[in-house]
Amino acid sequence: MASFKLIVLLSVLALASAYSQMPGTTMTTVTTTTTTVTADEDSQGLLNSFDRSIIRKTWDQAKRDGDVAPQVLFRFIKAHPEYQQKFSKFAGVPQSELLTNGNFLAQAYTILAGLNVVIQSLSSQELLAAQLNLLGGAHQPRGVTPAMFEEFGVIIEQVLEEELGGSFNAEARQAWKNGIAAMVAGVSKTLKNPEDLADPQTKLSRHQIRDVQRSWESMKSGRNALISAIFIKLFKETPRVQKHFAKFANVPVDSLRGNADYNQQVALVADRLDTIISAMDDKLQLLGNINYMKYTHAKRSIPRSTWEDFARLLGEVLTSKGVSASDMESWKGVTAVFVNGIAPKN
Ligand code: HEM
Ligand code: HEM
Repeated sequence: MASFKLIVLLSVLALASAYSQMPGTTMTTVTTTTTTVTADEDSQGLLNSFDRSIIRKTWDQAKRDGDVAPQVLFRFIKAHPEYQQKFSKFAGVPQSELLTNGNFLAQAYTILAGLNVVIQSLSSQELLAAQLNLLGGAHQPRGVTPAMFEEFGVIIEQVLEEELGGSFNAEARQAWKNGIAAMVAGVSKTLKNPEDLADPQTKLSRHQIRDVQRSWESMKSGRNALISAIFIKLFKETPRVQKHFAKFANVPVDSLRGNADYNQQVALVADRLDTIISAMDDKLQLLGNINYMKYTHAKRSIPRSTWEDFARLLGEVLTSKGVSASDMESWKGVTAVFVNGIAPKN
């Protein structure tokens, strides 16, 4: 295992030096206490040159200590065992065997290399922002949240304190705290909040569901009129859609609003929609309601295009009622999930 660690560490250092030779980056001598002054040195940001210099110096010391990388990842997983599942290559390895598992160690050194690149980029706000953007982007599809990076930062601090002993003084701790805050702020731009993460089964985020529920709630009194407006537009656009409804198939469109059967159908749809939307934050009910809609409409042979038209007209009517553009984005996502569930493409 020692030789494995050495190889990974060497590749980390090679990566770091290759990186620092990229055009537009600044070579920084990490062993000296004075930092190289660059044009960006005085730009505004969370980190001043003093913080940056301490971070580089303590990091230079820490990364040579072979224990730091595995310890950080090990303690992170020990503190939050549920996160181990995210690492498919060692998800099933018992905690007691992690520190001798090759895939675990490889991940630990991958993180070390990533952190190294970030620290090499500290001298330029622009470069740092670009690196953090990449880091966030690499983690977004894995469902990693800013809060997890924050938790990770706490562990880094603890491990550095233990491994560096006396040289990790109060100033160093503060510099790292600032650095970690800058990192979390940077990655948050590309990482989604848990609110915005789509559920893998329903494909909807809590945020989308919340927007739809809130805006639907706000038009409580006008719901039947809203549904009626959609059906009338739908029948006018595509007259044969009205033929699905035996009870009022032949009533002239402009007389529908005075037809009892029509009004009853509108009320039925509005009530059902209300029930569905109210229960959308319960995943099982949501999936069940989509199935119910599919099942109850399957025998009527309604083509997918009719559902798409209904969803589009719903969007138009909600917009005309003053629903905000950002809420409408959420409605779009929600209606797409319903259309795909009720009338799948194939
Ligand atoms: C300083 C903080 C971190 C750094 C520098 C870092 C770095 C990296 C790098 C370089 C990769 C490989 C990216 C790729 O192959 O596209 C990676 C993958 C990954 N990271 Fe991080 N990471 C950090 C924090 C976190 C946190 C807080 C989590 C939360 C659980 C996390 C979870 C993952 C996962 C699940 C993968 C994919 C592993 C796989 O290949 O299956 N990382 N990380
Ligand atoms: C949000 C949208 C909709 C909701 C919540 C909804 C709900 C319902 C419900 C609860 C029923 C009664 C089911 C039963 O007891 O068998 C029903 C019947 C029906 N729905 Fe929908 N529906 C919606 C949209 C549509 C659309 C776009 C069409 C397109 C033509 C449609 C066509 C029908 C037909 C033909 C019936 C049978 C009516 C009858 O009894 O004569 N529905 N709908």
